[in-house]
This record gives sequence, structure tokens and C-alpha cells, in this order.
Amino acid sequence: MDPQRLKDNFSQVATHGIDVAEYFYADLFERNPSYRSLFPASMARQQQVLLGALAQIVSLVDDPQQLIPYVEELGRSHAGSGVDAQHYPEVGASLVATLKYFSGDDWNAELEKNWVEAYGVVADVMIKAADQK
Ligand code: HEM
Repeated sequence: MDPQRLKDNFSQVATHGIDVAEYFYADLFERNPSYRSLFPASMARQQQVLLGALAQIVSLVDDPQQLIPYVEELGRSHAGSGVDAQHYPEVGASLVATLKYFSGDDWNAELEKNWVEAYGVVADVMIKAADQK
């Protein structure tokens, strides 16, 4: 995994602001309509916090000492929201689809591999922390 590549790509995608979170949730709920009811009726706050968390994760991607406790806490807080391990691959698929959409011509197989790998690590840590709660 190349941390700088992820950072560069995310900072470019993030220039699209809240549109990124809107696209992500639209894609997630289109593929998985049953997930909608896990979330509050108004998604405005959720869109903001998702972007904030992604930015935080990406900024710490080369600093496991800080990243791991942050992601563990995120995993634990999700356990109280009806989220379980089976949801994670679907969220990962929508995240990658979103990054791809906003990256346009900059997207390539190598970048996709980097994101899939990074998301896999984050998801594993979140799921384990939720299990140990
Ligand atoms: C990289 C993975 C993920 C990130 C960065 C992320 C980010 C966040 C953040 C920052 C919150 C706000 C509260 C908190 O800290 O818990 C949140 C809440 C939530 N997330 Fe996630 N999440 C991820 C994975 C998932 C997955 C796999 C699901 C399953 C569908 C999910 C569903 C939810 C739900 C239902 C809430 C609570 C909404 C509410 O009731 O206010 N998240 N997420």
C-alpha cells in the first residue's frame, strides 16, 4: 500500500465536498435498500461525519500508533448502531465506487488495489474491536 497515493487521491476527491458523501450513501442505499433504516431520517450530519472520519483515517494512514486506536473506537461505536461484519464489504464497495467516480481519469487499477487493501485493514480492525466490546 502506498500511503502518499491514497492521500493525494483523497485530497483531490475531497475537493468535491459534501457531494462525495451524498454519492456514497446514494450508491450504498441503491445497492442495499435495507441499510437505509440503520441511519437517521436526515443524513446531513451523517454525511459530514463520514467525510471527517475518512479524512482523519487517510491523514493517519502512515501512523498506525494513532490510526489503530481511532479505528478501534469507531468500530466499537458502530456496534451500538446495529452494524455487523456482513455490512462492511458492501460499504467498502460503495466507497471504492465513489472514489472511482470522483477521480475520473486519474483512477486506475493500482489505486483501486491500494484503496481495497486500506479499507480491508480498517474494516478488520473495526470488526475486531466491535467483537471485543
Ligand atoms: C471505514 C468504515 C466506516 C467509517 C469511516 C464510518 C464512519 C462513521 C462515523 C464517523 C459515524 C458517526 C458516529 C460514530 O463515530 O460512530 C458513523 C455512524 C454510523 N455508521 Fe459508519 N462508518 C464506517 C462503516 C460503516 C458500516 C460498514 C456501516 C454499515 C452499514 C455503517 C453504518 C453506520 C451507522 C448506522 C451509523 C449511526 C448513524 C446514526 O444513528 O446516527 N458505518 N459512521
